[in-house]
Amino acid sequence: MTDSTDSALIEARGLVAGYRGRPVLGPLDLALGSTGTLALVGPNGVGKSTLLKTLCGVLPPLSGELTFAAKPVAASAVYVHARRGLVLVGEHRANVLRSLTVTENLALASAHHRRGDFDAFTVFPRLGERRRQQAGTLSGGELQMLALAMALALEPRCLLLDEPSAGLAPIVLADVHSTLNELRRRRLCMIVAEQRPDVVRGLCDRVAIVGGGTLGYLDPDTDLSGEALGAAYFSTDHTTG
Ligand SMILES: Nc1ncnc2c1ncn2[C@@H]1O[C@H](COP(=O)(O)OP(=O)(O)OP(=O)(O)O)[C@@H](O)[C@H]1O
Ligand SMILES: [Mg+2]
Repeated sequence: MTDSTDSALIEARGLVAGYRGRPVLGPLDLALGSTGTLALVGPNGVGKSTLLKTLCGVLPPLSGELTFAAKPVAASAVYVHARRGLVLVGEHRANVLRSLTVTENLALASAHHRRGDFDAFTVFPRLGERRRQQAGTLSGGELQMLALAMALALEPRCLLLDEPSAGLAPIVLADVHSTLNELRRRRLCMIVAEQRPDVVRGLCDRVAIVGGGTLGYLDPDTDLSGEALGAAYFSTDHTTG
């Protein structure tokens, strides 16, 4: 990708991601600066989640180089990277402990907190109303807000978000979307994986279609609701940018 690799916060070279020796994606190069935002779009099963898990060190790469803030991701445990600011909100919101209440989950996240001024209930008032409720009984939208709030409590430098729209009604999605827009305005580095291109419209500087084992970067002016995108979305003939 064309972000300045000199100052890349997260950078991959020849990265191959997959499971038990079987590649899903790659080899691919990716470089994102400290204020860069990248959307990864594509249909089911193309490897969006696999790439995010690999980028944050949850899944070891099959080959290639991967660094975050100039340190190899493979060299440290996931929680070490999380403390350094590389934070994933995974597709099943696994960072939320379902048997604990909203407040308890937030307190756990805050145990590693470097930021005195983060108030989840100001960012998500709905969570404040539900503070004593067990996380396992929250609605899909509330759970998503909690997962995001817990990630933000870690004061990420690079936030990886897997399918923030999954299972959300349009009105809840609008809330989550406005939070993500606010994070972008604050120039937080983000990589957002989405099946729905309309969700990432206007949210990211760059959009890459994931398919055919690689990333196909779109022109920034591409109409994400247009027919051309639909054709590109289901094509496997991508070029890297
Ligand atoms: N733990 C795993 N072990 C083996 N293969 C896996 C594992 N997880 C995912 N895969 C396979 O890797 C491929 C990519 O899956 P991945 O979950 O990354 O896709 P995705 O683009 O995130 O899809 P979706 O939009 O449905 O979330 C799929 O073929 C999937 O079956
Ligand atoms: Mg996925």
